[in-house]
Amino acid sequence: MGVMSLEDLPGVGPSTAEKLRSAGYTTVEAIAVASPAELSAAAEIGESNAAKIIAAARKLANIGDFETGDKVFERRQSVRKITTGSKDLDALLGGGVETQAITEFFGEYGSGKSQLCFQLAVNVQLPVEEGGLDGSVIVIDTESTFRPERIAQMAEAKGLDPNDVLKNIHIARAYNSNHQMLLVDRAKEIANGLRSNGKPVKLLIVDSLTAHFRAEYVGRGTLADRQQKLNKHLHDLIKFGEIFNAAIVVTNQVMAKPDSYFFDSTAPVGGHVVAHTATFRVYLRKSKGNLRIARLIDSPCLPEAEAMFRITEMGIEDGKNR
Ligand code: GTP
Ligand code: MG
Repeated sequence: MGVMSLEDLPGVGPSTAEKLRSAGYTTVEAIAVASPAELSAAAEIGESNAAKIIAAARKLANIGDFETGDKVFERRQSVRKITTGSKDLDALLGGGVETQAITEFFGEYGSGKSQLCFQLAVNVQLPVEEGGLDGSVIVIDTESTFRPERIAQMAEAKGLDPNDVLKNIHIARAYNSNHQMLLVDRAKEIANGLRSNGKPVKLLIVDSLTAHFRAEYVGRGTLADRQQKLNKHLHDLIKFGEIFNAAIVVTNQVMAKPDSYFFDSTAPVGGHVVAHTATFRVYLRKSKGNLRIARLIDSPCLPEAEAMFRITEMGIEDGKNR
């Protein structure tokens, strides 16, 4: 699949394309999921014309349609995995963090969510033989916790040039939940651009997925609204993962419940919505010193189990001495 531009759509000339772009419809995918009324207003065209353009976009972007099982199987064949840096954690996830899926790391402050994101942002750049995908990274940073110094440290530990590694990480700060959602569209543009030149984007990180939503939607009355927005956001993310065969990694801060061993997986922000959309949900908790325990929660294809890992100067490492 090459890079698609709006002008590839029948009925979209330069001036219509311009109107669509300035209204925020910057990609074929964005048009594919729009309604005829929205599009007609944005591009100042008739609704039947808009409907035709949407139908063409759906075909071109290959979304919003039924597909046969063999197609799904074929797409699943292209799933790849990124090493976390810990063999046990990789094994827990069935070989590493998967492309075309959302992996959610949730846990209390300091449990290692961001450190795992940093490590994956480095590891995805490794060659395939070393557990990477030779790819680049997009980071949506909602709490300004991205630390290039730490990335550089992890890159050096892997024998990579820190400067090269940082050049392949595209970071945007999301100022609120709406901005965060819009950044996924922008991420698609960047990923489209990198598809043909440079390292293709193989990892999209949202750290944190839920912080803005939690802060902005307070009180019972706004809950449904928040869940609906979050639901749309997660579906945009999974779409990104499928279009670019990229892994999606999101974080979600939750309070630790020291008195209960069993974690109530419906408790974190996003509760049911995130639970049903994320393919892999990993609950992280602190253990002695730099040890962390990861627990895989209700995965469709893997047993619920635990793994230990360590956060060291070098980054994420095995928990057990090997
Ligand atoms: P919140 O974002 O606050 O919810 O936490 P988080 O889960 O993202 O925590 P994070 O991944 O930032 O983990 C922080 C922990 O990682 C610290 O408490 C340290 O234990 C460890 N850590 C971070 N940087 C280093 C480092 O350079 N060396 C070592 N040894 N440990 C580090
Ligand atoms: Mg963090």
